[in-house]
Amino acid sequence: MKNTQSKYTRMAHIYDWVEQRMPMNDFKKQAVNLLQGKILEVGIGSGANLKFYKKDSDVTGIDFSTGMLEIAKEKINTLNLNNVKLIEMNIENMNFPDNTFDSVLSTCVFCTVPNPKNGILEILRVLKPGGKAIFLEHMKSSSSSINIFLKFMNIITTKALGTSLLRETEKTIREVGFSKVTSKNIMMKDVVRLIIAEK
Ligand SMILES: C[S@@+](CC[C@H](N)C(=O)[O-])C[C@H]1O[C@@H](n2cnc3c(N)ncnc32)[C@H](O)[C@@H]1O
Repeated sequence: MKNTQSKYTRMAHIYDWVEQRMPMNDFKKQAVNLLQGKILEVGIGSGANLKFYKKDSDVTGIDFSTGMLEIAKEKINTLNLNNVKLIEMNIENMNFPDNTFDSVLSTCVFCTVPNPKNGILEILRVLKPGGKAIFLEHMKSSSSSINIFLKFMNIITTKALGTSLLRETEKTIREVGFSKVTSKNIMMKDVVRLIIAEK
């Protein structure tokens, strides 16, 4: 865990430069638009999604990288948001009571969470019954030719960023006990998916 945490803190200052060049922004906006009520964003990082929230939404953002949270804090000040609270916290062991949130958002997070199943179980725990978790995540494909490419790239991304390209995130979400899970392929066939999981 320390390894991923410190990697993100070390590269926090260049994260936005890379993130803004990824073709994910429109989809992140769509994911934010699905949120309602009391919202938790896990792995909020440098706050890439902050600009998409409505000014009156009630948002708590958590991340375990202090460096990334510092940049998110600057964005909150620049955007003059007083509806967003940031907390340094591990997704795998959240300090919230059961059934706290109506919606949970995760964008590009479960490729890095050291023990993803623990984190997804925690999301299920803190969601209210009937609440929805929205995941915009990249993962291992069902196509073996795409996976050959991902396996090669994975050697670099795991070393440099602590990011795995071969996580089976949808499978894990389906295993942990949500009452309903729907999934839409977004990019590179089924590498990037928008998954809605209802408690
Ligand atoms: C690739 S960044 C994504 C940031 C943001 N969600 C976005 O869309 O740009 C992944 C973030 O997840 C955070 N993260 C990974 N594992 C975590 C954990 N177990 N607890 C809290 N944050 C975690 C990292 O620190 C990093 O900020």
